[in-house]
Amino acid sequence: MNLQDAIHGAANLLRAGDTVAFPTETVYGLGADAANPLALRKVFEAKGRPSDHPLIVHIADSSHLSGWAQDVPDMAWKLADAFWPGPLTLILLRHDQVLNAVTGGQDTVGLRVPDHPVALALLRAFGGGIAAPSANRFGRVSPTSAQHVREELGTKVGMILDGGSCRVGVESTIISLVHDKPVLLRPGSLCIAYIEDTLHQKLMLTQVTEQIIRAPGALPAHYAPTTPLELHFADALLHRARRLSAQGCKVVVLGLGEMSSYDISNNGFEYFSMPELAKEYARVLYATLRHFDRAGFDVLLAEDPPDTQPWLAVKDRLRRGAQGC
Ligand code: TXA
Ligand code: MG
Repeated sequence: MNLQDAIHGAANLLRAGDTVAFPTETVYGLGADAANPLALRKVFEAKGRPSDHPLIVHIADSSHLSGWAQDVPDMAWKLADAFWPGPLTLILLRHDQVLNAVTGGQDTVGLRVPDHPVALALLRAFGGGIAAPSANRFGRVSPTSAQHVREELGTKVGMILDGGSCRVGVESTIISLVHDKPVLLRPGSLCIAYIEDTLHQKLMLTQVTEQIIRAPGALPAHYAPTTPLELHFADALLHRARRLSAQGCKVVVLGLGEMSSYDISNNGFEYFSMPELAKEYARVLYATLRHFDRAGFDVLLAEDPPDTQPWLAVKDRLRRGAQGC
């Protein structure tokens, strides 16, 4: 089946109340008709996700915004103009008609226009909003390829549209616009300074984001591989790896850039070189965690990236992953 036919078939499945996994520029989503409660129930069942967790509604373009949200503030239009289609989710006051299954019973709704040709073609063919969480089982690493979705959900999904590997690799930036000040709820690939320039004001950070920036500490577990993941800064990383190896643990180190040949030849652990650029690191992060999670290691040790803005999303996901064990 060619892609055009597959998209057409997927839109029909959505209309029939079935689920469709589809690629976006961030990660793959598990989509369902956002206006069909029975279809939404299938999403929660397939993921094993608690039903009070809200879903992001994907729309074809910003003209659909007013159908899902009310009292849309000026800030929302500015951000939509600047970043849609793109990896940005806006949290707005929900329109009365939006189902509780989508909002988790809250009075807000998350909306985004994804920047992926297959996602956009599907949205246009379907015509309505597609509610879609990441297409992984609850608490697991998000899928960045169709193969990952197959591994995660198998036959629990009506159809999987294959759009290759996701360009961004981490989930969208989420900004809440329901209070006077814009709040960053989840860091993604978008540059914070660029968002602030667009809004002519600073973003308020949630506690979680502040912890990453100012005082790394305990975060709720999420995005976790099943093999324990530890994060260490460069100087502590190899010490920890040597100690664990000496205790008989099978260890892989996910380091930033190459390790010197001296270190490689003197250790009993494996070293995997991650990209030194944040954007490239983000693109391969989940596929790498997924790969090493299955490779029979006892511990994954990741080098903690620099405390700078471009690394915000990667640090957030690594910390949550490390918290899961
Ligand atoms: O990049 C993405 O955002 C991907 C792709 C598929 O679009 N989707 C995604 O969905 O990451 P999910 O469900 O895995 O994560 C969505 C996050 C959740 O943490 C959820 O709590 C939050 O968005 N969210 C959704 N609606 C919300 C709302 N009304 N208020 C606050 N948070 C909300
Ligand atoms: Mg998710």
